[in-house]
Amino acid sequence: MTAINLSTPEASTDEAWQKLQEHHRSLTVHPLARLFDEDADRFERFSREGAGLLFDFSKVLMTGETMERLSQLARAAGVEERRDAMFAGTAINTTEHRAVLHTALRNCGGSAVEADGVDVMPQIAAVLKRMKAFAEAVRGAQVRSHTDARFTDVVNIGIGGSDLGPAMATTALAPYHDGPRLHFVSNIDGAHLADTLKDLDPRSTLFLIASKTFTTAETMTNAASARRWIVANLGEKAVKAQFAAISTALDKVDEFGIASDRVFGFWDWVGGRYSLWSAIGLPLMIAIGPEAFAEFLAGGHAMDTHFREAPIPDNLPMLMGLIGVLHRNVCGYPTRAVLPYDQRMRLFPNYIQQLDMESNGKRVTLSGEPAAGATGPVVWGGQGTNGQHAFFQLLHQGTDVIPAEFMIAANGHEPTLRDHHAMLVANCLAQSAALMRGRTLEEAKKQLKAAGKDEATIAELAPHKVFPGNRPSTTLLYDRLDPRTLGAIIALYEHRVFVEGTIWGINSFDQWGVELGKELATALLPAVKGGEVPDGSDGSTRGLLAALARRAG
Ligand code: F6P
Repeated sequence: MTAINLSTPEASTDEAWQKLQEHHRSLTVHPLARLFDEDADRFERFSREGAGLLFDFSKVLMTGETMERLSQLARAAGVEERRDAMFAGTAINTTEHRAVLHTALRNCGGSAVEADGVDVMPQIAAVLKRMKAFAEAVRGAQVRSHTDARFTDVVNIGIGGSDLGPAMATTALAPYHDGPRLHFVSNIDGAHLADTLKDLDPRSTLFLIASKTFTTAETMTNAASARRWIVANLGEKAVKAQFAAISTALDKVDEFGIASDRVFGFWDWVGGRYSLWSAIGLPLMIAIGPEAFAEFLAGGHAMDTHFREAPIPDNLPMLMGLIGVLHRNVCGYPTRAVLPYDQRMRLFPNYIQQLDMESNGKRVTLSGEPAAGATGPVVWGGQGTNGQHAFFQLLHQGTDVIPAEFMIAANGHEPTLRDHHAMLVANCLAQSAALMRGRTLEEAKKQLKAAGKDEATIAELAPHKVFPGNRPSTTLLYDRLDPRTLGAIIALYEHRVFVEGTIWGINSFDQWGVELGKELATALLPAVKGGEVPDGSDGSTRGLLAALARRAG
């Protein structure tokens, strides 16, 4: 791997990459499990705590020297300097000329944070105050519907960062959910809105239209349809009472007809996929209440403090990011799996997928040159134990090595179901041990023999029962999935993405790659409705349009 652009001299990053690779080549002859045989303290040496989380990376093929080489790479790539620049409000999102200040939204200490020479903290405090007042009034039924009903249901209409975060966090924090029922509509597929509205009463339903830009086609279309539903059932005048909006584009919200006291703003220095901490978190606040939401922010802030202060080898986001780089660039693994053993975290892999892939799915560096090596991996996953009965087969015996990121709470929220939690924990630990340890041909044969199989059966079955092992994983352990813990976990993943993006020299905060498809969809819509096919359309698109037209009822 050659140097990836960075503000530091090319030679030093080059050298750091080279030394890391040479060192790791010498390690690959080592089975992972043997590292534990050789070092009784391996777990202590390769696990760290920060902001209430324990990160175990002892099942990653690395030694103390690997750690040192990775730290050197981080230093050579200027990760600490860029981190400090981000927190200080420097416009590190250079293609959009923006600061990156989602961390200011959870800056519970309240110290000044400047963007363009202006302290952003007073604006943040002002919006937070309005959010709290509104959330409390909806929860306490002081804010009522057009028909003076209590709002029993809140529908958030948004997509991407304006949906995945609040939907994931509301699901994750179900035990703390004591406000009205929450629903999330994102897809342009009318099925999503129709299935949601089917069981709702317009008289007691509040809509939150969440869109940073207030131009996103899916959100605007769903919002317009929701508006029609309200008008058809309650009349035009009801719109004022049944809608609120969350956006940075206040002028566009006004055009939609939402009253200004029902609009909650945020700022262009908050990226969509980093916006859960802003007014985009309003549905979560309505669900769990302002106090629990404050705890959530505090968890994020605790991780920020850890990220800013802990030395690289003790710093959870640094470690996670460096291990990600090790796996992606040195080992060449194209993907990684996020595996929360936590039913309420079932949407977390989807959320992290946007955070990670939209941030680091980039092929050019900050200076526009092609990236010298691989950048963001494919990120996917699902909750345990369900995944064990679905895709884990490939994790254990497939031809690709897929680093697995396990997550588990020490305590569940169900005191009467403790035995369930014990089984959940046992499965989580068993899977990472199995991935690492594997099973040799000899062991497979021995097991079959012990089960009384004859020689022919043993010969036939044994190869299928071999597990190559040596497959890396990490485990993130937390006391209980409460608001503070969730905040810390999300901030950890955000900063991990930052660390990786910085080492790759890319801009983790823009998303130009989503544009082309949107442009083509806009151009194709008239043709789908029976109009002219746009000039320059390819043969496949023309063929599909014709087939759709023949089949449309
Ligand atoms: O299309 C991608 C994207 O711009 C995401 O980055 C963003 O989270 C999502 O669309 C929604 O955007 P908005 O909040 O502006 O509607």
